Amino acid sequence: MSARVLDGGVLADAIRAEVADEAKALLARGVQPGLAVVIVGEDPASQVYVRSKGKACMEAGMHSETIRLPAETSEAELLAVVDRLNADPKIHGMLVQLPLPTHIDADRVLLRIDPRKDVDGFHPVNVGRLVIGDPAAFKPATPYGVQEMLIRNRIETKGANAVVVGRSNIVGKPMANLLIQPGKGGDATVTVCHSKSRDLPGICRSADILVVAIGRPEFVTADMVRPGAVVIDVGINRVPDATNAKGYRIVGDVAYEPVAQVAGAITPVPGGVGRMTIAMLLKNTIQAARLQS
Ligand code: GUN
Repeated sequence: MSARVLDGGVLADAIRAEVADEAKALLARGVQPGLAVVIVGEDPASQVYVRSKGKACMEAGMHSETIRLPAETSEAELLAVVDRLNADPKIHGMLVQLPLPTHIDADRVLLRIDPRKDVDGFHPVNVGRLVIGDPAAFKPATPYGVQEMLIRNRIETKGANAVVVGRSNIVGKPMANLLIQPGKGGDATVTVCHSKSRDLPGICRSADILVVAIGRPEFVTADMVRPGAVVIDVGINRVPDATNAKGYRIVGDVAYEPVAQVAGAITPVPGGVGRMTIAMLLKNTIQAARLQS
């Protein structure tokens, strides 16, 4: 059996078209939704993500600002940029791309962002809102994208055993919190496992829905997947590949080919969850613009 492929590209394009319509409606009321993205340093993967976020923003008819700061920027200088964006009425949403250089305390920076502009949903106020099920919470874009993929592909989460592999603040923890909330795309029985879990393969095999965000290339193998399970691969890893002109190729956290033989549905990498993340970030920016206007 070969799994149904859950195409993130087609879905993301549909959501981005919806976002563009919503941006147009706001513009007709004199409000152009604006997103600022701040990047510190030269991390190549972060540079690619930030460029894509700015481009997507403009394509949706939104105002976009990208603030590029050198790696040696001090924490105080970065906090001053956040303060300026907090006070800028053209900016409804902002994010500071992670990871930050090690001399900067990321928690202190996230805490400085006005929660009303925190479209990443990383400020503790929004984390708390998400946990208590407050609809005003900004949902972190990647798990929000996963949830939207499940909903729009009519994959039933209610009562399902969902296993989240990985416990990061960006994906694993908010993913688990979204899946246990009552309502559409929720009501699942959620297990979170990670690198220290005993019998991780056994826990994975208990999943009807397996969401993998552990940051290790092709970590989940076919023997870890129950036949017919839905497998959502959040990983984006560069692995050396001499046959590729770039010298590397992108793989997920799931060994795609063998797992696709066992799973009922699977997301590809690239072309899966990654495409959804930016679409959901734009959706959050619309939510922020509505809130502030
Ligand atoms: N680094 C990796 N993913 C993300 C994200 O969703 N937001 C930010 N700010 N940084 C990231």
